[in-house]
Amino acid sequence: MAFTLVLLLQLLLVSLASASHHMGGTATYTYRGKTPDGKYIVDFHNRDTYDRCSYSHYWSCYQGQCGLKANTQRGIIDNSTNAPSNEKLWCETETVDTRYVPSDKPFQMRAASCCWITARNAFASNWRLLTSVDLGTRSDTQEPNRSPDIATLPVLRVPQNCPRTYKLTTFDPDGDKVRCHYGKIKNTDCGTCDQPSGFHLNPDSCTLQYYNASSDYRSYVFEMVVEDFPRGHITLQYSDGSQSSKSPALTTAAPTATAAPTATAAPTTPASLSKLPLHFSFLVDKPVPSCQPGHYLPKFVSPTPENGAHIHAKVDMEVEIRVRAQSSLSKIQDIIFSGPLNTTNHRTTHNDFVITWTPTSDHLGNHYVICFAVESVSGAYVYQSDMRCVVVDVGKKQVEANVICSQSTMRVEIEKSSFPRLSEDDLRLTDPSNIVCSLKTHSNSTHVIGIIPLNSCGTQIEEDEEFLKFKNEITTFDNNSNNNLITRTNLLEVQFYCQYPKRGNVTQSFTAHRNATTVWEKGFGKFTYQFEFFPNVQFQTMIDPHYYPLEYDLGSRIYMQIKATSSLNNTELFVESCSAAPYDNPNYMPAYPIIQNGCKVDSTVIIHSPDHQRQFKFSMEAFKFIGLHDQVYISCSVLMCQAGEPNTRCSQGCMAMNQGSNRRKRETVGQTSSHLVSQGPLRMRRSAERAESPVMNLNLNLVFIAGCLVAAVGMISGVAVYKAKISRVKYQPLATFED
Ligand SMILES: *[C@@H]1O[C@H](CO)[C@@H](O)[C@H](O)[C@H]1NC(C)=O
Ligand SMILES: *[C@@H]1O[C@H](CO)[C@@H](O)[C@H](O)[C@H]1NC(C)=O
Ligand SMILES: *[C@@H]1O[C@H](CO)[C@@H](O)[C@H](O)[C@H]1NC(C)=O
Ligand SMILES: *[C@@H]1O[C@H](CO)[C@@H](O)[C@H](O)[C@H]1NC(C)=O
Ligand SMILES: *[C@@H]1O[C@H](CO)[C@@H](O)[C@H](O)[C@H]1NC(C)=O
Ligand SMILES: *[C@@H]1O[C@H](CO)[C@@H](O)[C@H](O)[C@H]1NC(C)=O
Ligand SMILES: *[C@@H]1O[C@H](CO)[C@@H](O)[C@H](O)[C@H]1NC(C)=O
Ligand SMILES: *[C@@H]1O[C@H](CO)[C@@H](O)[C@H](O)[C@H]1NC(C)=O
Repeated sequence: MAFTLVLLLQLLLVSLASASHHMGGTATYTYRGKTPDGKYIVDFHNRDTYDRCSYSHYWSCYQGQCGLKANTQRGIIDNSTNAPSNEKLWCETETVDTRYVPSDKPFQMRAASCCWITARNAFASNWRLLTSVDLGTRSDTQEPNRSPDIATLPVLRVPQNCPRTYKLTTFDPDGDKVRCHYGKIKNTDCGTCDQPSGFHLNPDSCTLQYYNASSDYRSYVFEMVVEDFPRGHITLQYSDGSQSSKSPALTTAAPTATAAPTATAAPTTPASLSKLPLHFSFLVDKPVPSCQPGHYLPKFVSPTPENGAHIHAKVDMEVEIRVRAQSSLSKIQDIIFSGPLNTTNHRTTHNDFVITWTPTSDHLGNHYVICFAVESVSGAYVYQSDMRCVVVDVGKKQVEANVICSQSTMRVEIEKSSFPRLSEDDLRLTDPSNIVCSLKTHSNSTHVIGIIPLNSCGTQIEEDEEFLKFKNEITTFDNNSNNNLITRTNLLEVQFYCQYPKRGNVTQSFTAHRNATTVWEKGFGKFTYQFEFFPNVQFQTMIDPHYYPLEYDLGSRIYMQIKATSSLNNTELFVESCSAAPYDNPNYMPAYPIIQNGCKVDSTVIIHSPDHQRQFKFSMEAFKFIGLHDQVYISCSVLMCQAGEPNTRCSQGCMAMNQGSNRRKRETVGQTSSHLVSQGPLRMRRSAERAESPVMNLNLNLVFIAGCLVAAVGMISGVAVYKAKISRVKYQPLATFED
């Protein structure tokens, strides 16, 4: 199948030899060890860009023993209709070829054909890409050389009047010196071998500067070559007993840029350890009134990673790169990127772009470059941001973590050695205000341990036909900063969940009375909420916890009281909302609303006068909603305020919907964030006529967790550790230019 495809493509390319379709290409390689019969396994990552997605380079052996292709995999990386010259599209694909190479001696692979797209510095010109590989064992690493990790966007563009610098990413996993130069050997590593004027290339830093050219609908084509050189003298040892020696690159000042195509005795022993092609197209667009990034040209803003940032990834864990750009005088249109096969991108509802990639075990220990730019449009004009490239390091070890699901909690254990320099003091759950959510309580010297109730700490609940999934995450949190914002210096995110099948039996923990909730808040200290049911309007003796679950007849009154106990005496309690649902999880939908935004919603609700301002007493009639479920809980969202303060939520009382109730997050002086308290379960007494005219048209399945614990699954669903460069400017408020 793969072979037929390649053959077909080759025929196509040959038959279209005079057509102009080629826009760029790169290649890197990875040594993957030996086969049982001693062959060297090498993966070639070949990227190429054409004016359609169906074309690919055809690589053949140019020199030495290149072995046989054992496997090939091809896919589209990205495509865009913002394409140069007369093309409708550019499309970049990657082909990963695995070759079994018989010897560790140097060899060269080449892709060669005609033609480049109509370019201003190449007319119907051939293209030539050359990859030089040497698998001899390095005297410094005791391993074969690893190629530099290079990547670029295949199509770059800039307005004529806006000088710009492209720092081509040149990460070398062996720490070698990486140099870039224009192809020199006509028909071997370049076709046109042109060095466009108006640009300056610094070969030592691989920096390409655009400074001055006229605009044109045709692009410039760049045929560059990237090489790596050891930092000191080393030898390469071959299995046949021979050796070669390699020396550091000559420092520049030498006439590199002007080197004329030399015809010196073929490319026999290149001084570098490897040689890779880096070809791309470059469009110089019409001038723009302002070159200031953020006006026409999109400007990257936080949390977009910096150029050259390293992102630490783990096998089988999704890596997420969030990109945000702004332009006040043009409309952000799209992101373009180049990265490993299966990299995808999507746009969030908040207009961030998210590039995701999930490394597999094949990628372990290697490094992958992902380059991206954002494009905006204004009328017929297309504006491209800077190009940024990040290096994804695929980690040798996963975060060692365990999730154990029990009837009412998730227990997460993470080895501290997985993330040196972070401790439980720096970590928190989604909502840490309830003190049972503290990660300090159970952690020991080797593990961060959290025991998370299914109904608090911000646990999210998701339901489908068969399963209930409870999700939470542990993230880094900067406990020194005043506003508890997460720093990006060392960001850890461990997402986990427990999934329970919905068939099973009810057990004790799902029928038991809920204990008081203790929370801690800055400025308010530790305080406790107690939510209890009472038998009558006297509110004297709470119903004994032994009687739970409580049974009610339809229409009989349910008396409830919430009381806060605080060491501060000038505080008051406010009940924002209450609802009934089959779980005491605030995120469960649908729920039956009782109080919302401080207003009575159920018509039978009566609020009774409290003994003091940290108490809330109310009652309502038992409702048919209970009967629709085996049992329900009453959950309320409550908060505390400084008594008598004017602009607190407590002083505002009942507020109509949409009146911007700033729930959580935003810290408001004089009040706490919202806390969840719940009590139950309540059941309908058997005699009640059940099936008769349900009040609400809900068709919820009965759900019991406990009987199915055997089948419960606990998972870490995503881990990311970023060691981004420390950015001095943290969380400046962003002006949003887009509507
Ligand atoms: C462009 O790429 C997407 C996937 O990223 C693919 O679905 C689409 O078919 C491609 N466009 C063309 C013209 O092949
Ligand atoms: C830029 O190019 C224009 C025309 O190509 C030329 O007149 C001008 O002198 C150049 N400027 C610089 C700084 O090279
Ligand atoms: C890309 O994804 C496909 C389907 O999920 C998978 O079979 C393939 O191995 C992946 N390729 C790479 C290089 O990750
Ligand atoms: C903040 O971190 C310090 C140690 O770095 C720890 O002693 C302290 O308890 C932490 N504070 C909070 C609120 O977690
Ligand atoms: C810490 O807790 C983990 C998980 O329960 C356990 O395996 C480990 O032995 C404990 N370490 C110490 C030092 O107690
Ligand atoms: C529930 O428990 C009863 C008795 O304990 C058992 O007979 C029944 O099979 C259980 N049902 C399920 C779905 O596990
Ligand atoms: C609730 O409180 C009682 C008495 O203080 C205690 O025995 C019980 O373990 C608590 N239950 C939970 C789930 O914390
Ligand atoms: C509130 O606390 C203050 C100081 O702790 C005390 O002087 C005052 O009497 C208290 N008021 C009440 C009503 O308890």
